[in-house]
Amino acid sequence: MPAVVAFEEKPNPIGRVFLHALMLWAGVGCLVWMILLLVFGSSATKTAAPGEILPDVRRAHELFAQRCVPCHGSTGHGDGPASANLNPKPRQFANATWQASISDDQIESTIRLGGAAMGKSSLMPPNPDLERDPALLAGLRVVVREFRR
Ligand code: HEC
Repeated sequence: MPAVVAFEEKPNPIGRVFLHALMLWAGVGCLVWMILLLVFGSSATKTAAPGEILPDVRRAHELFAQRCVPCHGSTGHGDGPASANLNPKPRQFANATWQASISDDQIESTIRLGGAAMGKSSLMPPNPDLERDPALLAGLRVVVREFRR
């Protein structure tokens, strides 16, 4: 009976589809925003957690040029101008095997305490002033790691 079907109550189907699409769109939009906020929101506002040290890499680069390049060289090959007569030679930071063999802690301790205190050559001088500046010390460690090839 096609006539009955034709008069059946039919709320505007276009409107309903549109409404559903709108709700879906809003729902998905909210979800996407929540995910974006979760992923990027936390890192954008990242501050140092209590006890965490953020390496000061900018100052470390300056200090490295003054204090470390004379021996370790500007390319990390241990061939700075003051290295010619040193035996053993300053560590080659570019050496991947060495980089893999040493921990961040060991690097920082060697820089702070010097080679002798770490059972290495006393030609690697201590930097006791960095004791009071952990961000700079951590920055130097980052600089040393940057030479890894
Ligand atoms: C007077 C020369 C000299 C200066 C200046 C110097 N070093 Fe060294 N450094 C050495 C020598 C020599 C060694 C190798 C020690 C060894 O292998 O026994 C070394 C080794 C190291 C090591 C590797 C330690 C290890 O466990 O293998 C690190 C890291 C390091 N130096 C960082 C620095 C940093 C950072 C500076 C600047 C703040 C610096 N050094 C300044 C001579 C120097």
